[in-house]
Amino acid sequence: MIKLDKEACIGCAVCASMCPDVFEIQDDGKAGLISQENIDCAKEAAEACPVSCITVD
Ligand code: F3S
Repeated sequence: MIKLDKEACIGCAVCASMCPDVFEIQDDGKAGLISQENIDCAKEAAEACPVSCITVD
């Protein structure tokens, strides 16, 4: 399961550019989860996120 801590997200958008089918930048300027489908890509985004607010288990 992909999880996103919105409080911690700073809206850097790396996740959305790496995995546009999983993450999108929403009206609040932070990432939102739009799918649970691409776990492998989400794991890479979790590594890349500067504030480590994405978790995948
Ligand atoms: Fe937020 Fe991290 Fe994505 S800061 S916009 S969850 S890469």
